[in-house]
Amino acid sequence: MEIRLETCQDYREVENLTREAFWNVYRPGCLEHYVLRQYRTNPDFIPALDLVMEEDNRIIGHVMFSKAELVLNNGNRTPSWTFGPISIHPDYKRKGYGLKLLQYALDKAHGMGIGFLCMEGNIDFYKHAGFDLASKLNIHYHAEPKDAEVPYFLAQELIPGWLQNNGITEATYCPPKGYFVADENPEDFEAYEATFPKEEKLRLPGQLGYEE
Ligand SMILES: CC(C)(COP(=O)(O)OP(=O)(O)OC[C@H]1O[C@@H](n2cnc3c(N)ncnc32)[C@H](O)[C@@H]1OP(=O)(O)O)[C@@H](O)C(=O)NCCC(=O)NCCS
Repeated sequence: MEIRLETCQDYREVENLTREAFWNVYRPGCLEHYVLRQYRTNPDFIPALDLVMEEDNRIIGHVMFSKAELVLNNGNRTPSWTFGPISIHPDYKRKGYGLKLLQYALDKAHGMGIGFLCMEGNIDFYKHAGFDLASKLNIHYHAEPKDAEVPYFLAQELIPGWLQNNGITEATYCPPKGYFVADENPEDFEAYEATFPKEEKLRLPGQLGYEE
């Protein structure tokens, strides 16, 4: 198994991998491959943390990081970081690859001086890489009330004490704009989606907003 930087020759393979990994997981179909595609040209994108994992002579995993912002109570903004999408090919899920890729990326991010990360995700996976509820660090989610304990909003200080050292006692996280591109450009997204093999979109238990 090898982890290396993504190159432009990998783009289509990685978008296909992302689509396969996310298909019908959080919603019927998925958007994440389009988010990734658009993100590579976004100024918030961090090329040094755009990583692929290879096994059996194919790309089976990918993760990307980007710059984000925390909004302080006085309205000032301060730089922060986030990551995702992270994908492991369905044939390789739950074999430890995702955690290995994430831990490698976190170590690299730490080495680059990235001291704090927050993101939306399933704590049952991310707790293994040191993440906990962001509310425990007094970091709120932009789309939820400040007193809500948001179970999917997670954070980690890669550099212990980073928040305090930067004078941050409380803040609200705003995801980078690039994460909403599919909603903003529905026609472009549909045209892009049509370039992939057709797959059935299914409403399944466990998806966001699924009701019996
Ligand atoms: C989420 C994902 C990256 C995890 O990678 P992975 O290689 O499957 O995970 P690992 O084998 O490294 O998991 C390590 C541990 O995390 C936990 N875990 C992993 N995926 C989980 C999930 N979907 N739900 C709950 N716990 C999970 C388990 O405790 C697992 O250990 P176990 O298999 O011994 O129980 C991968 O499954 C994936 O690509 N999923 C679809 C896309 C996605 O959801 N991406 C993340 C968006 S936030």
